[in-house]
Amino acid sequence: MSNSHSEEWVRQATATRRSGSVGPLFKVGSAADLLHEARAKERAASIPEAVQCYEAAISTAERNGETAVLAEALRRLAIVLHYRNESERADALCNRSYKVACGLGNDVLAAEALNTMGGIALRTGALEEAQHHFIQALDLGGQSRELLARIEQNLGIIANIRGQIVEAVTHYERSVEAYRATNDEHGCATACMCLVNHAEAHFLRERYDEARRMAEASLAIFDQLDSRADKSEAYKMIGMVYRETGRPALAESRLRTAIELAVSAGSVLNEAEAARELALLMQTMGRNQDALTLLNTAHRLFGRLEARVDLVNVRGKVSTLETTYFEVVREWGQSIESADSYTFGHCERVAQRALSVARELECDDTAQTAIRLGAYLHDLGKVRVPHEVLNKPGPLTREEFEIVQMHPLWGLELLAAVEFPWDLKPIIRWHHERYDGTGYPDRLRGDEIPLAAQIVGIVDVYDAITTARSYRPAVSHDAAMAEIERCRSWWSEAVYEAFIAAVPQLGTRGPALLAETIQRP
Ligand SMILES: [Fe+2]
Repeated sequence: MSNSHSEEWVRQATATRRSGSVGPLFKVGSAADLLHEARAKERAASIPEAVQCYEAAISTAERNGETAVLAEALRRLAIVLHYRNESERADALCNRSYKVACGLGNDVLAAEALNTMGGIALRTGALEEAQHHFIQALDLGGQSRELLARIEQNLGIIANIRGQIVEAVTHYERSVEAYRATNDEHGCATACMCLVNHAEAHFLRERYDEARRMAEASLAIFDQLDSRADKSEAYKMIGMVYRETGRPALAESRLRTAIELAVSAGSVLNEAEAARELALLMQTMGRNQDALTLLNTAHRLFGRLEARVDLVNVRGKVSTLETTYFEVVREWGQSIESADSYTFGHCERVAQRALSVARELECDDTAQTAIRLGAYLHDLGKVRVPHEVLNKPGPLTREEFEIVQMHPLWGLELLAAVEFPWDLKPIIRWHHERYDGTGYPDRLRGDEIPLAAQIVGIVDVYDAITTARSYRPAVSHDAAMAEIERCRSWWSEAVYEAFIAAVPQLGTRGPALLAETIQRP
């Protein structure tokens, strides 16, 4: 419920009584001064002091016959008490405020009291009663454009709760019109943002039709206000609805417009959020490179906002975004597996186990994230290896093996246009390098091989041995460990030791059969 500016009338009515300075609590002064001070205490969240001040304003107003101040102080105190769950007292004060205003013959103050009664009823879920009060308030005080704007907004909230979308939109439009008539741009934007917020609430409840209609109504208003940042929000919501209702082309166009508007308005937050939503659309369309590029844009933009204390929950948004990153990357990794049924779950196991080894090596959070994501995508390049080579039952020819050995470089090519906030590419390129220089594709040696690539490399080998492949059955954990021990020159001492230490957490499994080869990727 909106209550701003309502002291304006009282301020005007009592301006001549002002002493000019606001003194400490209970300083002898006019009721108007005390009311003014009570408002200041309330805004500063000093609620007990504000209550005392309102009570002092009320008794002073009663004594001095400052009736308008009395009506306003009663109403303001009612609001504070309502928030303190003293609803009965709040109701009584509001009723008294209404009667005092009526006795004074001041329709606007009486309507303010009714609007507050409606607001209190609304918060307690008494919709009928709330609506009754608001309509009465409208009849009585509708000549004040500023009050009319707030009452229409409240009626819009009720219609929305009842699912009467057309009525809700009409009330909001009237509210915005009234705000505009008083040149209150802030009020306009607030009423309109209410529409967007309602649209979002409908979206979250999967009421897509309602969400779209509200977002479109707000767009029409924002258009008149020429508020590009707000228009961007509305376009984003419409795009999200189209995405969820299976209309990807429309969704893409609306979300791209949202991004453009946010950029031209200089709204980094809106740009980041619209980019994230478009990334989700790209993901549903299987356009993984585009999804990751957009996620990277969003990540970079949110990063720029993290230092801003005035924006709430940017860290939370970044964390949600990182979850989305994992989902897109994991899904992409799994899509590689589907071409190779023998390695089902391979990426997930490699990611989890690589993480265990990374923790053993006390890698920091950023490195751990890179290792998990890199593990999901390490074999991305295999999508270019012909199916018959990848799934060949017997040994590979030299030519076939050369093709397979291209997969780290092909993976990198597939990601050439994608920037990541984490350093994944070394993992993809060098997960088959060996510490003794016998690996591929670059025959790196020793510490030339990044630690993250070595970690993914060792758990990849372990998983390759312990799961069945087209060319051999699975091998037991013990036999695999013996094989890794035999090949320990492939990894640095530190990585090998960390792997051994992490073995109990590796989630080992597998039937006992002998290893044939671990040459294959
Ligand atoms: Fe590989």
